[in-house]
Amino acid sequence: MNHQTVSTELPVPTHRFTVRLSATRRGARLARRLATQQLDAWGWPYDSDSSRTAALLVAELAANAITHGRVPGRDFRLGLTVVPPGTLRVEVSDARRDRGLPVPADLGSAPLDSDGGRGLLLVDALAADWGTSHSDPVLKTVWCSIALGPSVTGARRVTSPPPS
Ligand SMILES: Nc1ncnc2c1ncn2[C@@H]1O[C@H](COP(=O)(O)OP(=O)(O)OP(=O)(O)O)[C@@H](O)[C@H]1O
Ligand SMILES: [Mg+2]
Repeated sequence: MNHQTVSTELPVPTHRFTVRLSATRRGARLARRLATQQLDAWGWPYDSDSSRTAALLVAELAANAITHGRVPGRDFRLGLTVVPPGTLRVEVSDARRDRGLPVPADLGSAPLDSDGGRGLLLVDALAADWGTSHSDPVLKTVWCSIALGPSVTGARRVTSPPPS
């Protein structure tokens, strides 16, 4: 008789979410909130490690988009994609296609007492991978990816957004 091993683990479906937001502090705050809201809807609750890490990454990339990537009157774009079997790709696109990012070797070269220069260090530490893409003709995209923890669905989900 043949024996077959049947996996009881459900595959993580592909999810995709994109939104255009104003290149303002309010827009950046909204990006973080929409990201955790979307992850919650897909099965990664607000209080999960995956959601917390994603929120930090979205916040850093959105903050950069509205400062270093800002073009007056132009929005920035947030993209979230869950890629099976369990990777989240975060993409933040801004209108400063001409303006590049520091090469990884230069990260952390800001003086210790400087006010800035730490956001991408955090991204580098938290993300499995990150980089910049110029595949769009008018936008530059800074992206990063993280490995997602297990998702939670159905009745096991009891979750509410944290106070903002
Ligand atoms: N979206 C972007 N477009 C253009 N340049 C960027 C972008 N993001 C980052 N940079 C460049 O990379 C540098 C390092 O970014 P990083 O986020 O580490 O520091 P910061 O934004 O200057 O300060 P902090 O994030 O600590 O408040 C920035 O000072 C800027 O020159
Ligand atoms: Mg920054």
